[in-house]
Amino acid sequence: MARNRVLVFDTTLRDGEQSPGCSMNLNEKLTLARQLDRLGVDIIEAGFPIASEGDFDAVKAIAAQVRRPVIAALARATERDIECAWNAIKQAAKPRIHTFLATSDIHLEHKLKLTREEALAQARAAVRAAKSLCNDVEFSPEDATRTDLAFLCAVVEAVIEEGATTINIPDTVGYATPREFARIIETLRTRVNGIDRATVSAHCHNDLGLAVANTIAALEAGARQVECTINGIGERAGNASLEEIVMALKTRGDVMPFETAVAAEELFPASQLLTESTGVAVQPNKAIVGRNAFAHEAGIHQDGMIKNKTTYEIMTPQSVGVPDSRLVLGKHSGRHALALKCEELGYRFERREMDRIYRRFVTLADEIKVVEDAQIADIIRDETRQASAA
Ligand code: KIV
Ligand code: ZN
Repeated sequence: MARNRVLVFDTTLRDGEQSPGCSMNLNEKLTLARQLDRLGVDIIEAGFPIASEGDFDAVKAIAAQVRRPVIAALARATERDIECAWNAIKQAAKPRIHTFLATSDIHLEHKLKLTREEALAQARAAVRAAKSLCNDVEFSPEDATRTDLAFLCAVVEAVIEEGATTINIPDTVGYATPREFARIIETLRTRVNGIDRATVSAHCHNDLGLAVANTIAALEAGARQVECTINGIGERAGNASLEEIVMALKTRGDVMPFETAVAAEELFPASQLLTESTGVAVQPNKAIVGRNAFAHEAGIHQDGMIKNKTTYEIMTPQSVGVPDSRLVLGKHSGRHALALKCEELGYRFERREMDRIYRRFVTLADEIKVVEDAQIADIIRDETRQASAA
């Protein structure tokens, strides 16, 4: 694999699906998995099979039917979980067991009641058990960013010795800053014996709105797998958004020379499909896939867009599968955009006629915020009638 190739690990169906309001049934999960396949993600984390029968069945169906990507299943660091995960994915063309154990003192003390030594032994045993079933094993030290760094290095070294092929570093509670997160990745890459035998991965949550920035910082520090979700769905404030990572790398390849295999024009269809399946809409100003991501209302911006789209757009809407940019007609819009809309509706006006239409448009826009085509057509018809009656 080329040095700068980044593996995209999609966890929409696992970390994403477990967030409030985002649950999906088996058919919806299969349909989404097929869209993720079209999108070109490298790994689909299909679910957490021990969590429920429904999860198990969905992971099993995806493993049987979606054959190109690696299909991963999540398991806590216990034999029972690991066996269950394996039973769900063993028919996959490329199965992966993803096992995890918390390593921060906060989690060890309050949640797991384990000493560091016990946790290290459990992590080792879990990876050994997973490796006896499946060659492709990923290990995540949960809450890695709040874990003592020397202990984190010791755990990572131990699980690589047991055969883990991917080491995923989760910022479980979205606490890290980009520089801190990069330093953790750099430290692992320099201090851990055998780290070159594994792919280092970043898994960032968005509690401080830093998930994508932290993920990119991890790539710059040597990580080569990113864990992310469509529309950034996930626990609490969500996971790093797949579409934002992919388009940041694509648009700013000049300063971030990384490549993914994602077919960017499938991003918007994937986002729409997820919204339809879950009923959870994305915020209008969401980067890349939000309703306003390629919409322009301000007069100065609309004027620029009419003259040349590169004035206010750093990527084309078509490049991410959005049909076109939108000039939204509201009170901030200028004459240029209104004249263009009139032309689209089949009318061309002299300057004085256009002035009258524009005044009426602004009065209406002040009241109702966004003026739709039909309302502009009404104003035009009314003005034309009055002009011919005069
Ligand atoms: O956020 C997290 O720590 C996780 C792990 C299970 C990888 O989702
Ligand atoms: Zn997570």
